[in-house]
Amino acid sequence: MKLQPAPLPAAIASSADLDPEDWASARVQAHRMLDDMLDHMQGVREGPVWRPMSDAARAAFAGPMPWAGEGLEAAHADFMDQVLPYAVGNTHPRFMGWVHGGGNLAGMLAEMLAAGLNANLGGRDHAPIEVERQVSRWMAELFGFPQGASGLFVTGTSMANLIAVLAARAAALGPDARIEGVGEAGTGLTAYASAAAHGCIAKALDIAGLGSAALRLIPAAPDGGLDCAALAEAVAADRAAGLDPFLIVGTAGSVDTGAVDDLAALADIAARERVWLHVDGAFGALAMLAPELKPLLSGIERADSIAFDFHKWGQAPYDAGFILMRDAERHRAAFAVAAPYLERRPRGLAAGEPWPCDFGPDLSRGFRALKVWFAFKTYGAAAIGEAIARTCRLARDLGARVDAEPALERMAPVPLNIVCFRFRGQNPSATDKLNAEIVVRLQESGLAAPSTTILEGRLAIRAAIVNHRTRSDDVHFLVDEVLRLGRDLTASGEIA
Ligand SMILES: Cc1ncc(COP(=O)(O)O)c(C=O)c1O
Repeated sequence: MKLQPAPLPAAIASSADLDPEDWASARVQAHRMLDDMLDHMQGVREGPVWRPMSDAARAAFAGPMPWAGEGLEAAHADFMDQVLPYAVGNTHPRFMGWVHGGGNLAGMLAEMLAAGLNANLGGRDHAPIEVERQVSRWMAELFGFPQGASGLFVTGTSMANLIAVLAARAAALGPDARIEGVGEAGTGLTAYASAAAHGCIAKALDIAGLGSAALRLIPAAPDGGLDCAALAEAVAADRAAGLDPFLIVGTAGSVDTGAVDDLAALADIAARERVWLHVDGAFGALAMLAPELKPLLSGIERADSIAFDFHKWGQAPYDAGFILMRDAERHRAAFAVAAPYLERRPRGLAAGEPWPCDFGPDLSRGFRALKVWFAFKTYGAAAIGEAIARTCRLARDLGARVDAEPALERMAPVPLNIVCFRFRGQNPSATDKLNAEIVVRLQESGLAAPSTTILEGRLAIRAAIVNHRTRSDDVHFLVDEVLRLGRDLTASGEIA
């Protein structure tokens, strides 16, 4: 039976709203906006990676609240003039700074569809939540988790790691701690991660009320992964001192160098010590999509939880972090709250338990899942995996080129897609400054955008190849430009 909507009373039907008065011209304008973004994406390689904002460009944002609207066409013109030219640049193939994904067309279009639906994925019974559940099942399959595993889209891995810490805390302290606070029992809880772990792990312990000092940073072994023997010793020493080890965080792809901990060995220690094993795989976890890389992550299937980002190697437009939990009940026990205004019903719109809001801190949630669902359906998981594998091949190629250039020094192994290196200055005390200047000049010229990090007290140029658009000539161009700038800056005596 087809439902016919009842006619609205005239007063409601004619009330003012924000929809266009003239849908035909709104449609023309909407198509223009879509065309502009398609042009931008198609031609991204031709433009600069990034350009600094002039004072005048920044001043465009000083205007007061626009109480009277200027219309869609004018707002779009402002976007084209004031915003688009000064974006961060991570869609560009020569953006290699930090760990930024390149985005993709299917994801961009899906974002538009998601905004059009304007779905709230906190809960209730509707198809957008089924999309998120389907992606969760895909991820459970990918990581070898049981099909009853729970998954949740979040902003990014910082939030996903926090959710894992909170779940591990709830598992260690039991349900009362959610009401009474962590109390005395919480003071002994101790967590472990590699010294190369991301800073958001310590921050998560801080936010969880356990204090960042509750995180033991275990030194790395020569391959860059956490030293498992040192971990076992630290756990034993803490137990002997009356502390309560509750969480081991493995890193699958460290932020500085891409190092991967021995996850199978960590799983053995976690099982023996009966502690929660969480894997921070912010970018590295999706190496599971690439058959040639998957063996590096062996053992990840034994974790209690895995945090990762689709917006990094998964190439989804920002933001699209994800937390996957082996045991949905333990996950839910850490976050679910009852409230009369959120009561679940067996039928109607309030059906469909459990709701996503039962698995994390957010109640209102956008439809992040759609852009990932679209990309997987459009390109296929294998193509995304191949793009990931290609970035690692490019990184090995870049590492080999660095090794072959006497003026350059590689500063870390290249297990995945990150290459850390530097120009050998004539004056060791000025070499950090020289390399920092090389990076800034590369960025300001718009030619390429690596970033920097500090390895064993020495500044490194860090090229993280994440973007599916990056090609071999891009990484060789980066090396050529580093050599040119290093030689120019040294020869001119600016930084000798
Ligand atoms: C290993 C690791 N963990 C956590 C994060 C934080 O992720 P996000 O920026 O998505 O919060 C990053 C970011 O690069 C990372 O590399």
